[in-house]
Amino acid sequence: MDRRQLGQSGLEVSLIGLGTWAMGATVETWGHVDDRESIAAIHQALDSGINLIDTAPIYGLGHSETVVGKAITGRRDEVVLATKCGLLFPQSKDQLPPRNLSRESVVRECEQSLRRLQTDYIDLYQCHWPDPETDIRETMEALVELLRVGKIRAIGVSNFSCQQISVAREYGPVHCLQPPFSMLHYRAAEDLLPYCLDNEIAVVPYSPLAKGLLTGKFKAEDTFEDVRAHDPEFLGDRFLRNLKLVATLKDIAVRYDKTVAQLVINWTASFPGVTSPIIGAKRPSQVIENAGGVGWALQDEDRLCIDQLLEEHRRAG
Ligand SMILES: NC(=O)c1ccc[n+]([C@@H]2O[C@H](COP(=O)([O-])OP(=O)(O)OC[C@H]3O[C@@H](n4cnc5c(N)ncnc54)[C@H](OP(=O)(O)O)[C@@H]3O)[C@@H](O)[C@H]2O)c1
Repeated sequence: MDRRQLGQSGLEVSLIGLGTWAMGATVETWGHVDDRESIAAIHQALDSGINLIDTAPIYGLGHSETVVGKAITGRRDEVVLATKCGLLFPQSKDQLPPRNLSRESVVRECEQSLRRLQTDYIDLYQCHWPDPETDIRETMEALVELLRVGKIRAIGVSNFSCQQISVAREYGPVHCLQPPFSMLHYRAAEDLLPYCLDNEIAVVPYSPLAKGLLTGKFKAEDTFEDVRAHDPEFLGDRFLRNLKLVATLKDIAVRYDKTVAQLVINWTASFPGVTSPIIGAKRPSQVIENAGGVGWALQDEDRLCIDQLLEEHRRAG
């Protein structure tokens, strides 16, 4: 699989990355997830030429990082390992993860992640969400120090606005942004993607398949008990409109002998400003299908047709 520069970090990442949120194996979030399948999926990703693996401490309260650590044992040099800081473990199931990007917390979290990941460096260390209680200068100084001592190789931010990125950049390099972006969550195309393109910041968008909705596997009568149960894209008329869009995308995908997921991944990975979409998977078969989303080109007329479909879809609300 081809690679792209990760901004100005000097790292190179594959055209798609593997997301490991579901591998945190929290049943109420993603249903039952088997660690052996997760590890096999990570191995499949590496075998398919995917080198970017994204995790976070909050995914299964350390479990996703532990699984990733096990999977990459003996293959560390094949991986651009991305994890995050700034979301602490909640005290109870009803509490949201407290945000903390203070110097002390960032340094402590980094050490904990290194242990779980069984490595002595993290390639891409990302602030998971902005922390309104901490001056970003303090966070950036902590990250720049981690970079200087070699514990991390690149600095990233996730869920930051252009304004927040530009303040952070006053105190150190921001090599990469991880925003939500997909055919259904298009906002990043309006400001974040052009901003990052102009400033040579890599973009590794998350949830490009809209939590599986854009794979074409769901039907109108499906109901959800996991993370999708609370996602408005899976509810009521909006869900039905989304399914209609997916059906139309399928007609385009078959002309290329591709699946809807592959078409969607191709569209996302070739969107101006996108470096490497991070696609979640739970098992090797999903990774194999998703890897087939790149390495071929969507014709201009089909891209235009998709853009028009998405415009109409957005207008319909
Ligand atoms: N920075 C942040 O705030 C943030 C937030 C969310 C996610 N992320 C990162 O981005 C990654 C991806 O996002 P995501 O997991 O939310 O959503 P996604 O990539 O849009 O969808 C992933 C889910 O879709 C299903 N799927 C994947 N490939 C498939 C295929 N070929 N056929 C059928 N189903 C398939 C799987 O779930 P099922 O098998 O259960 O359907 C998988 O867990 C996460 O793993 C995480 O690393 C970051």
